[in-house]
Amino acid sequence: MHENGLIKVGEADMSAGKSVGRNAIVTGGASGIGLAIARRLAHDGANVGVFDLDADAAEAAAAQIRADGGSALAVGVDVAHRDQIDQGMDKVRAAFGPIGILVNNAGREGFQPFLDITEDTWNHLLQVNLTGTFHCCQAALPDMIAARWGRIVNISSSSTHGGQPFMTHYVASKSGVVGLTKSLALEFGPKGVTVNTIPPGFIDTPMTRRNEAKGLLGGTVDHHASLTPVRRAGLPEDIANATAFLVSDEAGYITGQIIGVNGGRNT
Ligand SMILES: NC(=O)c1ccc[n+]([C@@H]2O[C@H](COP(=O)([O-])OP(=O)(O)OC[C@H]3O[C@@H](n4cnc5c(N)ncnc54)[C@H](O)[C@@H]3O)[C@@H](O)[C@H]2O)c1
Repeated sequence: MHENGLIKVGEADMSAGKSVGRNAIVTGGASGIGLAIARRLAHDGANVGVFDLDADAAEAAAAQIRADGGSALAVGVDVAHRDQIDQGMDKVRAAFGPIGILVNNAGREGFQPFLDITEDTWNHLLQVNLTGTFHCCQAALPDMIAARWGRIVNISSSSTHGGQPFMTHYVASKSGVVGLTKSLALEFGPKGVTVNTIPPGFIDTPMTRRNEAKGLLGGTVDHHASLTPVRRAGLPEDIANATAFLVSDEAGYITGQIIGVNGGRNT
């Protein structure tokens, strides 16, 4: 390997996403996109800390990963609280060692007319989606700096490309994640850490189905799939595939980027 982490031709195992022996944390790892990412990173050889607000669901996810032959530890964590994040990261360090990969995926959606959004609702959404990402990055980065190697992937939203009516608080929080990502990439590139964001577009997850059932999507999942250039809804595994690549050694020259995974809905 080149001293800057570049894999030379003939040296790399070209199966993208090899994370053997890396220690990873996936927030919101008990459901949907986060669950698919946790399972994929474990499949690629990482030891995965599954952080989730729902501790029982996190335990079920970790048990599923272990049953599949992977390595995982469930930790009940609300990313809105720094003390819980610090304690959770210490549990992962005690079980596996220093953290090399962080995927900030935990998130809350919000649908409300702008004039009805209370300050409490605004603050809570930003606390989970943006401040939670800030805290997790700050808590994990020292391990990455010490190792001179790290990978952070922040899950934002395709709504940041063009805005979304009735989701101003959500879009503002996710747009903050995009800015956080770009600035962190510049600050920590010299330390061997890459930071990228994936803004998913219309992925079929429990969150999406909940919103479909409440009539919040402006049509069914099938309707939106029919309007998508690749003519299907995204799967959680589509986001997991891109994440697996971004956290691999092969992606060492990709940082500060917005990697859209949306079936062509946003270009
Ligand atoms: N589904 C989509 O189409 C879509 C599109 C754009 C962005 N996203 C983003 O992708 C991420 C995952 O979404 P999903 O569709 O898989 O949702 P989901 O609701 O299926 O899963 C989210 C998980 O995050 C957990 N979580 C929520 N708040 C948390 C907190 N404070 N601390 C820790 N864990 C918490 C939940 O318990 C759940 O397990 C979210 O950030 C979401 O905003 C999703």
